[in-house]
Amino acid sequence: MSYKTGWIIVSLFLFASQVTQAGEFWAFPADAPAPEYGNLLINRTSEKNGQKPAIFSHWLHRTKFTCRVCHFELEFNMKVNTTEITEKTNQAGLHCGAASCHDGKAAFGHQEPHCKKCHSGDKTGGSEKFNELASRLPRSPFGNHIDWDAAMKKGLINPVHYIAIKPPEDIEYKEKLVLDAGWTNIPPAVFSHKQHIQWLDCNNCHPDIFNIKKKTTEHFEMVRILNGEFCGVCHMTVAFPMNNCQPCHPGIRRK
Ligand code: HEC
Ligand code: HEC
Ligand code: HEC
Ligand code: HEC
Ligand code: HEC
Repeated sequence: MSYKTGWIIVSLFLFASQVTQAGEFWAFPADAPAPEYGNLLINRTSEKNGQKPAIFSHWLHRTKFTCRVCHFELEFNMKVNTTEITEKTNQAGLHCGAASCHDGKAAFGHQEPHCKKCHSGDKTGGSEKFNELASRLPRSPFGNHIDWDAAMKKGLINPVHYIAIKPPEDIEYKEKLVLDAGWTNIPPAVFSHKQHIQWLDCNNCHPDIFNIKKKTTEHFEMVRILNGEFCGVCHMTVAFPMNNCQPCHPGIRRK
């Protein structure tokens, strides 16, 4: 073995043990069953008003609409139970009841017998439908066990990107950023604007989650991300979860 190869092996070993330690060091939330990842029970007002909590399933809706439609156009917050959704707003054509949504034409509306489809109180709802969908889409080992980007790229899903407010054509930003991790031997994280803006609007991230200048977002590190900040806003809840190191740190090999 040459001197050089020896060094490569030693540093690979050091790197691998650091990654393993990192994985053991941080607390990752337990994996939800694939059909439940991204499912929410919305219960800000339901039970107080004699209804079961409303189920909302991200995997079901993201096949039809991008995040942008709901989290920018329809103004749902990216934190459960914080948006002031009521039956009145729904009936008035806002929130779930928006045109092209649960307006009684595009999808079932807000009258009997449909109430219980939403107010089911059941977070597991729809796993048969999930299995049917998952069987047609590329797999991934985490989260919904669906590789959503590959599904989009192959045209297997074609979610609508706007219903009323078209994204301006003159704002395009496709830069791929290399975000150096603060630790030695840890390959940097990469962030592709191109991949994200096919799902999201600039406003979903800037300025609330990230500053619009590289390396200026403060306390941008794994502990905070795993606490549901920064990348963790989405990558702990709806997009592939944090235990999937490889897409973010391409230098870390899949186990
Ligand atoms: C059809 C509408 C719709 C689509 C599409 C959608 N969401 Fe949501 N999302 C919601 C609603 C409704 C809530 C709950 C809001 C509330 O209760 O205040 C929510 C909540 C969230 C939350 C908070 C989760 C939590 O546990 O607190 C995150 C993060 C989120 N969405 C990210 C996304 C991402 C990323 C996408 C695209 C892949 C997406 N959403 C697509 C409607 C949608
Ligand atoms: C498309 C889904 C959907 C349908 C259909 C639906 N709701 Fe809701 N409803 C919601 C959501 C989401 C909320 C907000 C829940 C929360 O924050 O607790 C809500 C809130 C409520 C609330 C809480 C208090 C208030 O006034 O807002 C009541 C009561 C309610 N709905 C009753 C009904 C009844 C009765 C029906 C049928 C006539 C119905 N809903 C149909 C989604 C739906
Ligand atoms: C999913 C989140 C997300 C979305 C959506 C997003 N960005 Fe960013 N953006 C980031 C992150 C992360 C950084 C780096 C911040 C840091 O390092 O402090 C960044 C940095 C930037 C920078 C600074 C780059 C540099 O080299 O200093 C610009 C400019 C920018 N974004 C523009 C946009 C525009 C325009 C859009 C919409 C077309 C957009 N971003 C959408 C996450 C996002
Ligand atoms: C506002 C929500 C949101 C935030 C914040 C966010 N992402 Fe994502 N990201 C997504 C969604 C949605 C996808 C599509 C894949 C999926 O849902 O699993 C995605 C996909 C990715 C991919 C896969 C792209 C590919 O190559 O196929 C990488 C890598 C990634 N994100 C890294 C990051 C990093 C690093 C950060 C923080 C700097 C970040 N993301 C912040 C929503 C988000
Ligand atoms: C959704 C994207 C994403 C995933 C998944 C992810 N990371 Fe990170 N990681 C980042 C970002 C972003 C940073 C901070 C980069 C910076 O400082 O600018 C980071 C930083 C780090 C650091 C440097 C120390 C620190 O706290 O900043 C280590 C070590 C690390 N990650 C290891 C891992 C390991 C191991 C995994 C899998 C178990 C993992 N990461 C999964 C995005 C991710």
